[in-house]
Amino acid sequence: MKFFVDTADTAEIRDLAETGLLDGVTTNPSLVHKAGRDFLEVVKEICGIVPGPVSAEVVALDHESMMREAEVLRKIADNIAVKVPLTVDGLKTCRKLTADGTMVNVTLCFSANQALLAAKAGATFVSPFVGRHDDVGYPGMELIADIRLIYDNYDFPTEILVASVRSPIHVHDAAKIGADVMTAPPAVIRQLFKHPLTDNGLKAFLADWEKTGQKIG
Ligand code: G3P
Repeated sequence: MKFFVDTADTAEIRDLAETGLLDGVTTNPSLVHKAGRDFLEVVKEICGIVPGPVSAEVVALDHESMMREAEVLRKIADNIAVKVPLTVDGLKTCRKLTADGTMVNVTLCFSANQALLAAKAGATFVSPFVGRHDDVGYPGMELIADIRLIYDNYDFPTEILVASVRSPIHVHDAAKIGADVMTAPPAVIRQLFKHPLTDNGLKAFLADWEKTGQKIG
């Protein structure tokens, strides 16, 4: 499963990229607002940090205006994935962009039928929001399992990008289902490394090593 980080904070992205475990980045208008920086400038910087796909979202609602915005975004770098909402105009835009060889991430997906439409529109990625599903009392992971089943039934190449990830449990469940990608906030990615038994075990090993009085090298 590929790991994307869901942030527009370039310091966090740089830090996580150093682990060598980061495959891409997703942003959205809310994350850009949080970063407090010029949108095009911050996206360009992110594209230079991570060679994998960097999602940048259009904000227009009609197809023609989405295409105009996508033109600006896709010129930023070769690793841009234009993010469009799962609407009729969004999918029209998706079809046009992918036919031209641009990566497209179809976002705000909340049903398996919507995911089916995104795949038929040739989306590179579809982003079902699991956390927001959980928030309204619907198990988000059931949606991921349904999409996996449907995509496998028809060999759709669209990658399932699990979004709105809120905890390591979401990551664990997404991997068991066979999602292609997950995007999570930096704090959740950092949590994945942690286990109290790792910390305790390391402490004990180092205490015993100290007692040997030896050095390596
Ligand atoms: O990038 C879209 C998605 O990951 C948003 O997550 O936590 O705002 O529902 P959240």
